[in-house]
Amino acid sequence: KLTDSEGNSFRAVVVKGIHLHPFPLVESNINNYVKFHAREDDVWIVNWPKSGTHWVYEVVKLLITGREELTDSIKEGTMFPEACAVESLEKLPSPRVLDTHVPLKLFPEEALKQSKIIYTIRNPKDAFVSSYYHMKNNKGDLYDGTWNGYFDLTMDENTCLYGSWFDHVADWMEVLENNPNALVVKYEDMKRDLKKEVRRIAEFLGYPKSEEVYENVTTKCSFGHMKKAKKEPKSFWKPGGSMYRKGIVGDWKNHFTVAQNEKFNTIFNEKQNKLRVSVDFDI
Ligand code: A3P
Repeated sequence: KLTDSEGNSFRAVVVKGIHLHPFPLVESNINNYVKFHAREDDVWIVNWPKSGTHWVYEVVKLLITGREELTDSIKEGTMFPEACAVESLEKLPSPRVLDTHVPLKLFPEEALKQSKIIYTIRNPKDAFVSSYYHMKNNKGDLYDGTWNGYFDLTMDENTCLYGSWFDHVADWMEVLENNPNALVVKYEDMKRDLKKEVRRIAEFLGYPKSEEVYENVTTKCSFGHMKKAKKEPKSFWKPGGSMYRKGIVGDWKNHFTVAQNEKFNTIFNEKQNKLRVSVDFDI
């Protein structure tokens, strides 16, 4: 049983020293990654949790399929390989769009060598807050503590879900930085100018489209439209919970205490040079 600094419980499965969401069979699924066969046209969306997975997923899906409208299913966007048996992934038609939060050391090696990877980065203060609400509002009773307890859990590299944010970004960026099969997308850049990022993603994927298509994808992937179009399973959330909570930059200011912010900034300043990417806490 895992607990935070205030004694509140926290549900996770520890695999190779990393705390993961307690999906059934997650340990054996990850151990079976040695049998995972990557395809050259696979597209992986990789990030530390709550960094824009569903957002980028919908952009990619609209571009790849040429569909004009989002599907209403939210499930389509949560094909976490760590939550599935390798065999079920084999049955998916190409091009597969897969997403994962695993740190580099748990990622299937073949996929790293052969497939396209979009790594999304969101400033960690907002990602931590978003993750807190995800854990708290989830019907899986993932966490029953307070923001203060969750902050401590997340700042501690030994208990942070999916591993320390700093290591996640630094390790992934080291292998992706000069990899032509990889694209780094920042949540804050999508907030600033979504159409520009949609165009970058389309060109990277090899699906260049017209301005008209970029315009449509930008409209359909706005926060308001996604929140309206996507049906969220009632079995997943407690009342008030949502995958589309606020969708803004800077909500951390409503949660971080002055002391928490100082603690965070001290560690951030120490580790910043390993990240190889600038981080925007504001836009
Ligand atoms: P908040 O909890 O801060 O609102 P993920 O998909 O990785 O789980 O990330 C979820 C976060 O991305 C949530 O953040 C959600 O609101 C935000 N998000 C999802 N779609 C978005 C969109 N179209 N525009 C802006 N933010 C979006």
